[in-house]
Amino acid sequence: MGGRVTATRSDEHDGALRGWYDIHEALRTEVTRLRDHADLMADREPESAHAFDEKFEFLRAVLTAHSAAEDGIIFAALRLRGIEVPASQLLEDHQRELANIYDVHRLLVEARFLGDEEPSVEPLGKVRDAARHLHDDLLEHLAYEEEHVIPMVLDRVSPDDQARLLGKVVAENPPDLVPRLVPWMAAAIAPDHRVALVEDWQRSLPPERSAQLIGYLREGLPPDMWAELTARVAVQ
Ligand SMILES: [Fe+2]
Ligand SMILES: [Fe+2]
Repeated sequence: MGGRVTATRSDEHDGALRGWYDIHEALRTEVTRLRDHADLMADREPESAHAFDEKFEFLRAVLTAHSAAEDGIIFAALRLRGIEVPASQLLEDHQRELANIYDVHRLLVEARFLGDEEPSVEPLGKVRDAARHLHDDLLEHLAYEEEHVIPMVLDRVSPDDQARLLGKVVAENPPDLVPRLVPWMAAAIAPDHRVALVEDWQRSLPPERSAQLIGYLREGLPPDMWAELTARVAVQ
């Protein structure tokens, strides 16, 4: 196992749910890209707005799946085990984040409509502001979970139990999203964490499930990243 590269993924724990940090890292990267893209979208050039739309649709799909897995599986499992987390506050955060995403979407639609009707720079300014708000709010939420929730889960839920919960989370993700989500997530994290992620899958998940996820990496990672990964961890 490599040393800690960022302040997030914890190398002090060996439970499979430490991959929780990886999805957070990828979400942070994606929402920052989206905010930067919105900042640069100074005109109404349609291709730029279309590319923005695609990034935003993907973020919405991933964040919805992630938050639902937290509320419906992880936080529910903690409740069953008598481990206290502020679940209602976290649920409110998730609902607010989805509303923030809706705001970006509706303002983007409005900007396109108004751009056709009566050109002005104002509507895309609202998209930029909404994307910044989405970014700042999401980063605050992720940081809260990383400080107050994830370490407690890694400390108090046994590795076997974590592996079982990870299996439930993976199984609950929309099937058409997983082949895109897995390489997106792996590409966003540090090389050491990418290796640890694959090793966690191999240790924790049923072999056919682990092989499936690794197959998505083979198909979806940039070739140089895949080559570096397979030089460090044995895959079939
Ligand atoms: Fe969350
Ligand atoms: Fe989260």
